[in-house]
Amino acid sequence: MDISSLHEHNLTYRFPKNFWWGSAASGPQTEGAALMDGRKQSIWDYWYSTEPACFHNGVGPEHTSDFYHRFKEDIQLMKETGHNSFRTSIQWSRLIPDGTGKVNEKAVAFYNQVIDELIAHDIELFMNLYHFDMPMCMQEKGGWESREVIDAYVNYAETCFRLFGGRVKYWFTFNEPIVPVEAGYLYNWHYPNVIDFKRGATVAHHTIVAHAKAVEAFKKLKVDGKIGIILNLTPSYPRSQDAEDVKAAHIADLFFNRSFLDPVTKGEYPRDLVDILKERDLLPAVEAGDLEVIKNNPIDLLGVNYYQPRRVKAKEKPEPESAPFMPEHLFDPYIMPGRKINPHRGWEICEEVIYDIMIDLRDNYSNLPFFISENGMGVEGEEKFRHAEGFIEDDYRIEFIQEHLKWVHKALEEGANCLGYHLWTFMDNWSWTNAYKNRYGLVEVDLKNQLTRTVKKSGKWYKQLSENNGF
Ligand code: BG6
Repeated sequence: MDISSLHEHNLTYRFPKNFWWGSAASGPQTEGAALMDGRKQSIWDYWYSTEPACFHNGVGPEHTSDFYHRFKEDIQLMKETGHNSFRTSIQWSRLIPDGTGKVNEKAVAFYNQVIDELIAHDIELFMNLYHFDMPMCMQEKGGWESREVIDAYVNYAETCFRLFGGRVKYWFTFNEPIVPVEAGYLYNWHYPNVIDFKRGATVAHHTIVAHAKAVEAFKKLKVDGKIGIILNLTPSYPRSQDAEDVKAAHIADLFFNRSFLDPVTKGEYPRDLVDILKERDLLPAVEAGDLEVIKNNPIDLLGVNYYQPRRVKAKEKPEPESAPFMPEHLFDPYIMPGRKINPHRGWEICEEVIYDIMIDLRDNYSNLPFFISENGMGVEGEEKFRHAEGFIEDDYRIEFIQEHLKWVHKALEEGANCLGYHLWTFMDNWSWTNAYKNRYGLVEVDLKNQLTRTVKKSGKWYKQLSENNGF
């Protein structure tokens, strides 16, 4: 990395040459055309069809910005907002509508056109294979609880590598794979609405095996490119340096960060986590070959999604003996007095945590190459910030990005191996059960017709940021 460039010109914060500036999105959240041209239901379409009230204002995944039809206009807007790179995901339920077997040629044509258009605009495409979107037919087979689904996923991944490998250079097996575990199997936020830690642990282990097998297939096929995974890291901070608080923070960190980070980078589950689960008879079934495939397939590149830290304190009550296990039996959440909050979303804002993550990766993960693959500020009711000239005047978002980038810059100066920064997200998009509640985009989407796009103030600023390679 060319560190000398970090202080050139008149910019206070200059970033390394070829730093990735862009944003992240996903297929199910932007493509729309949910059941068009051969695509079949994912769990989201199915769940919405059975329980629309679970979605904010009853808005489901059917239209979601209509990128399927408007990608040319949208890619043009990416250029106008300074993107040199962009992440989205292929929808398994579009490419292989029955989960396995026949490939949908219309989907192949669509993804090829998107790839062509991005290449024509000189925007590097980062392609993710799975963003919470299990095809419904695969969920009917047990979803990630089923070994058959691991095989089907690996076949889907190989199909993607064969079809688009070479033209797409950066691949990711999963986005935030812990979210389907937490949301679908622990906390009752997402379909299939199971609350069962052991089943959740099985889902986690199978996801990691599926990931490792996809990495293995990528290497066997000798795809010209890099492969990795995108993890949401929420560092855990103890209330105090008292041993019990520190232990509580360590445990939370094991469950929510190291559980995925260690196997995909070091090829092994953290020993402490295995011990905690073993003691409580919560380890998932591990089949012959699982640990080897995990061991032998470390990633090339990590994507780090960072939104907010987790603060914890020692448990005030002892672990209940009879209640079904939950990680929260081992630590309590801690509301830190004076913490900064994004009042429009309710999440804590703590910029220096991004620095801590970067230094942790430098010191404890062999300084592996990574980039910030999501960071961003959700705002409910963003219409109230509309300028008289019609665009959203989101100075708060510009400040949010700048304040995080200052810490990214500091960690870069101290040797962290960070290759880029992607904002969540390019245009306001549909977000699972929150639907369009929290807006994150550099570009506003008129929700009345889900069509008209208007660049926000942050979008204009982002272009300067990217062109100047700093601020
Ligand atoms: C990220 C997910 O963690 O959070 C995205 O990768 C999601 O898919 C985003 O849209 C924002 O979530 P929310 O709940 O604030 O809309």
